[in-house]
Amino acid sequence: MFQVNELNREAMTIRLEGPLPDYPAFAEGIRRASDRGWTLNRAETELAVKNALRYVPEEYHEALLPEFLEELRTRGRIYAYRFRPEGRIRGLSVNQYQGKCLAGKAFQVMIDNNLDFDIALYPYELVTYGETGQVCQNWLQYRLIKKYLEELTEDTTLVLESGHPLGLFRSRPDAPRVILTNGMLVGLFDNQDEWHRGMQLGVTNYGQMTAGGWMYIGPQGIVHGTFNTILNAARQRLGVGQKENLAGILFVSSGLGGMSGAQPKAVEIAGGVGIVAEVDSSRIETRHSQGWVSRVAETCGEAFSMAAEACREKRPLSIAYHGNIVDLLQYAVDHEIEIPLLSDQTSCHAPYDGGYCPQGLTFDERTALLSKDPAEYRRLVDISLRKHYELIKVLSDRGTFFFDYGNSFLRAVFDAGVTEVCKNGENTYDGFIWPSYVEDIMGPVLFDYGYGPFRWVCLSGDPEDLRKTDRAAMECIDPDRRAQDYDNWAWIRDAEKNALVVGTQARILYQDAEGRTRIALKFNEMVRKGEIGPVMLGRDHHDVSGTDSPYRETANIKDGSNICADMATVCFAGNAARGMTLCALHNGGGVGIGKAVNGGFGLLLDGRESTDEIIRSAMMWDVLGGVARRAWARNPNAMEVSREVNRTYPGGYHITLPYSVRDDTVMSAVDVLFSGKEGD
Ligand SMILES: NC(=O)c1ccc[n+]([C@@H]2O[C@H](COP(=O)([O-])OP(=O)(O)OC[C@H]3O[C@@H](n4cnc5c(N)ncnc54)[C@H](O)[C@@H]3O)[C@@H](O)[C@H]2O)c1
Repeated sequence: MFQVNELNREAMTIRLEGPLPDYPAFAEGIRRASDRGWTLNRAETELAVKNALRYVPEEYHEALLPEFLEELRTRGRIYAYRFRPEGRIRGLSVNQYQGKCLAGKAFQVMIDNNLDFDIALYPYELVTYGETGQVCQNWLQYRLIKKYLEELTEDTTLVLESGHPLGLFRSRPDAPRVILTNGMLVGLFDNQDEWHRGMQLGVTNYGQMTAGGWMYIGPQGIVHGTFNTILNAARQRLGVGQKENLAGILFVSSGLGGMSGAQPKAVEIAGGVGIVAEVDSSRIETRHSQGWVSRVAETCGEAFSMAAEACREKRPLSIAYHGNIVDLLQYAVDHEIEIPLLSDQTSCHAPYDGGYCPQGLTFDERTALLSKDPAEYRRLVDISLRKHYELIKVLSDRGTFFFDYGNSFLRAVFDAGVTEVCKNGENTYDGFIWPSYVEDIMGPVLFDYGYGPFRWVCLSGDPEDLRKTDRAAMECIDPDRRAQDYDNWAWIRDAEKNALVVGTQARILYQDAEGRTRIALKFNEMVRKGEIGPVMLGRDHHDVSGTDSPYRETANIKDGSNICADMATVCFAGNAARGMTLCALHNGGGVGIGKAVNGGFGLLLDGRESTDEIIRSAMMWDVLGGVARRAWARNPNAMEVSREVNRTYPGGYHITLPYSVRDDTVMSAVDVLFSGKEGD
């Protein structure tokens, strides 16, 4: 026994202890992550197992070593499956957890909800959604985080780095209780290969957006945004009126996974008809049994004829097509089927890690090839993406409106060798030939005004609490203020009827800075009066201020600053300074390592007056930082909101606004400069 181990064990009161838990059984029918690929050399492999074993007392090392090596060899990472609690994990009522403060218990609800069989994409591998988005790296960390949360007090802050609980550090009651980061890499190493190495070594974690920030609330979290996006796409491109719905309009896309699974539900709520291709039958079964997709078609012909009938009758209908999106589009091209709205939600932020299934392979074949011959898999993905692109081009020439759904699809097409997908035909600096949903729709219509995916979880787990919060939130919205307010008001009015809850009693509601503040204050008052139990507020990182991502959230920022990650970073810092209960900052998110920096928060509503103060400053900051940056980038709607903010809150808020410069003045001055240059 190393003496240092004895000393370290004695120095820790929060630690993992023996005896070793029994190796848990894996339930049948639960989706499993594919092998991520073991690429470490001998020395790195030794380092990886030493890194994992440092969580466990020395007497268990010999027993665990072969297990961990086998996981590395067959799974490409060490999940420490043995340490997963047996059976199904789910977010319980907050009172059922141990803890020394409410926040400590509340975050256990959030973590467990993110690992629920009904919620998580690969629950055994701690993947909540987005193919690779994990709550933490392994079950050792999960157990240790829980122990820390049980010991957390209002005078301490728990710090996590890529899932690793670094420890508890003395702070203050009005400081965050949890500060966490995921996947942050130094610039030189900020790429997929280095991350893959680090992930095998057990030193980094891909948190996606809300998975590593523990704020995922099941597919509902994305339904509202998808509903807004499809509706506004139809308004912009198909002339659908402000108070009309999608009756008789066909939307085609792919993916019934964590986020993509929201598409069929959203299109039905919007009154339209949707066909969503999905290669994995287990995901179709999940969404179908949850009532998130109404019909299942095994052939393209069946899918399109069901859709045609529903369109004719102007009846809302969602259809899962069991097969590859490329086959579905090929069928539409061959049979000259009109598709007014088209998108894609395969996990193209990680196409070569299994996120994109190449045409010609079944889901099982895809999984086998991925672990047997990753180079061949990559080759097939590239061929399929090129074909996929060609088909969209044909459809687009026939009048289809295609938009990228923030999954890096167009970037993946470019990486597969199609340079003509870029606006400038060469590189991605000027964007792509088709808009991303943020660039044309969500950016100007929602984010620039401050509207974003605000959400809450009723920690009691009582559906009645959710009902009360729905009603209270609705009363906080003036439907006549803006079109967006009407949409949000109608959304919350119908939320319960639309049966959106999977997992904990949670709700998503797009709101702007003032709306979020009003609702948060109202809920906190209800908690104070004992009308409802405590509530966890949060949002998707995919929001106004939380994310710098040039192909997505910041795609409609055109002053050249979309290569910068300052906004997400200061948003995180500002939230921490103002006392949000949890502050998270991640690399990657929905688009992949090195392509985005994103952050989020959790704010525990415990009914205290001091929490009102945090709400007043932090909720406004969390949104207005992004509005201000968007205004500075000359986005007209953000300038309008910023002017209003400056007028409404003198002494409280003051946003710097840009002066416009006349194009012709600039052009003639630059002409002079360049004519001199050309003459040289
Ligand atoms: N919904 C949103 O608002 C939103 C926003 C931003 C980004 N995204 C992005 O969308 C993507 C999907 O997210 P997710 O959480 O659903 O991921 P996911 O991995 O859970 O689901 C993707 C699904 O696509 C299926 N698929 C893969 N290739 C296919 C093919 N060729 N044909 C048919 N089906 C195929 C997979 O089997 C999987 O079920 C991610 O890249 C995510 O970052 C979504």
